[in-house]
Amino acid sequence: AKTRFVETHEELSVLAAEKIFSCIQQKPDAVVCLAGGDTPLRTFDIFIEKTKHHSVDLSKITFVGLDEWIGLDGFDKGSCRNTLDEYLFSPLNVKENQIIFFDGKAESTEGECNRIRNAINRLGGLDFILLGIGENGHLGFNEPDVPVDELVHIVTLDNITRESARKYFSSPVNVSKGITLGMKLILSTKEIVTIASGESKAPIVDQIINGPVTHKVPASLLNNLEIAEFIFDKTAASKNF
Ligand code: F6R
Repeated sequence: AKTRFVETHEELSVLAAEKIFSCIQQKPDAVVCLAGGDTPLRTFDIFIEKTKHHSVDLSKITFVGLDEWIGLDGFDKGSCRNTLDEYLFSPLNVKENQIIFFDGKAESTEGECNRIRNAINRLGGLDFILLGIGENGHLGFNEPDVPVDELVHIVTLDNITRESARKYFSSPVNVSKGITLGMKLILSTKEIVTIASGESKAPIVDQIINGPVTHKVPASLLNNLEIAEFIFDKTAASKNF
């Protein structure tokens, strides 16, 4: 993978937004997956500004959800779908038929995995994915040690991820499982951009840069891919800057 170090979260966001933008300019019917969480929110703002400034037609783009907390859906403030709705889909006026997203309240979670797997398969896979990194090195909800040969699957969340859930929700939620695109699907994406910002990510970013490629640190698996790029800001890469 290529690794870029930038000074600030703003610079990281500008670069990431440019990546998404150039993907959709090259392929107006691209299949694009963008992580939720806090790190990409500014990226989304900049991307939205760019598409408006250049009057880009997004009507042929398909947006795929990366993950969702089991038990939550788009109506729950702080859920992955809700975050994407608020910060990306609504401002861009993305239509429901352009969105493929997990319903964390679906009666059958296995059925939900199949639905998303089949939908992505019909589209021919993902053209672009923007990922964040968990403090434990997770990508989506692919926690340390999850099987890496899954396309879409249910994962039991580890304690670090359950703890981190607090920052997204104003009242406590009891989340123990997630539904996520699996490592096999993520790693087969044509272009992968992974961003990390903030002191809390510095130890895991150091492991990704200097440690072995191992499924114990899912984000480290990206190191093997030429089409993958990391963008770290100074706070996240404080041990390596
Ligand atoms: C969110 C997701 C997670 C986050 C990661 C970093 O959809 O898939 O893997 O990207 O936990 O979260 P933030 O950006 O909030 O630090």
